[in-house]
Amino acid sequence: MRNNLNAWAVSENHFPSFGSIKEKFKFFVRYAILAPSGHNTQPWLFEVHEESLNLYADRTRALPVIDPDDRELIISCGAALTNLLVTMKYFGFEPDVTLFPNDTDNDLLASIKVKSRDYQPTDEDKIFFKAIPNRRTNRLPFAEEIIDEITFGKLLKAVGDDTDIKFAKVESSEMREELTRLIEQGDRVQSQNKSFCRELAQWVHPNRTSSKDGIPGYAFGMGDLISFGSPFFIGNLNWGDIQAGRDRNLVKGSPLIAVLESKSNNPADWLKTGVALSRLLLRASWEGISASYLNQPLEVPELFDKVRDLLKTSYHPQMLIRLGYGKQVKATPRRDVEDVIKIA
Ligand SMILES: Cc1cc2nc3c(=O)[nH]c(=O)nc-3n(C[C@H](O)[C@H](O)[C@H](O)COP(=O)(O)O)c2cc1C
Repeated sequence: MRNNLNAWAVSENHFPSFGSIKEKFKFFVRYAILAPSGHNTQPWLFEVHEESLNLYADRTRALPVIDPDDRELIISCGAALTNLLVTMKYFGFEPDVTLFPNDTDNDLLASIKVKSRDYQPTDEDKIFFKAIPNRRTNRLPFAEEIIDEITFGKLLKAVGDDTDIKFAKVESSEMREELTRLIEQGDRVQSQNKSFCRELAQWVHPNRTSSKDGIPGYAFGMGDLISFGSPFFIGNLNWGDIQAGRDRNLVKGSPLIAVLESKSNNPADWLKTGVALSRLLLRASWEGISASYLNQPLEVPELFDKVRDLLKTSYHPQMLIRLGYGKQVKATPRRDVEDVIKIA
């Protein structure tokens, strides 16, 4: 296994049962960093104290072109927060979480104290925890097999009962077609934006990269040779048209297109969106369901409003997700836990 994939070799057998509380917290963070993040920037920092843990947004890893308000950055941190919380619960630590605990520090996203150390994990907690090392973003085509209503119900339940967050199917064929057009437009607008291409090229790497962040070409289905030239292809050739064609086919072949929405479009709800996103993806992974994203129109302001109008929702669409049954794909790199943790 390449060094930059070491993080995935974490195992519950490594739990430091006789270690200090700080060592235990560090172990929990090893599962938090397996969360998905936009462009695999891993924009999180964890500060470990004697009796608590703080989660910070690492805005030095922001994507100012695609994500100028740090919306996706905060969603990514929310996903890491879920992984942290389910891991704590699995090992009997009942978390007491305060989101945005400090009005004057908007980088401090969550403070987690331990309410008790004899928590009994539920079956759902166990499922979430066990799914963490197997979850991947799968951008390849899916099988035709549909996701039945019982399974969809499990995904819906996993999202949680926070009324600030909604998870809905995009069902009618007219709506799917219109959404596909908006996704294609998003691809074209982004591909024509030189700053967008330059930013993306910095985070897409050849397959044999030793980089601990960013996306290796294989995650887009590229072979080794093609992946070597991937930063060059971005922004050259007819990249927008090629991507639009690919995405049309992906939507067409996806049994389920769904949207994760939040009541407000502010950092608190972005964080909650990330929390719900990871719960959804973990449950999906447990059910053998793959997922990837079609967020392009939500990243282009003029298209964001069109998606919202199309969905006829009073909420704010945050993530467009395709789900279905796919082949197993490779994990992407992660930074070492030591790079994202500060022991106070
Ligand atoms: C908030 C957020 C937005 C994302 N947006 C996209 C996207 O628009 N297109 C895409 O292909 N992947 C997207 N991803 C997936 C990431 O690129 C992926 O999580 C990352 O490369 C790490 O890979 P992994 O999920 O397989 O661990 C997004 C992930 C998150 C958390």
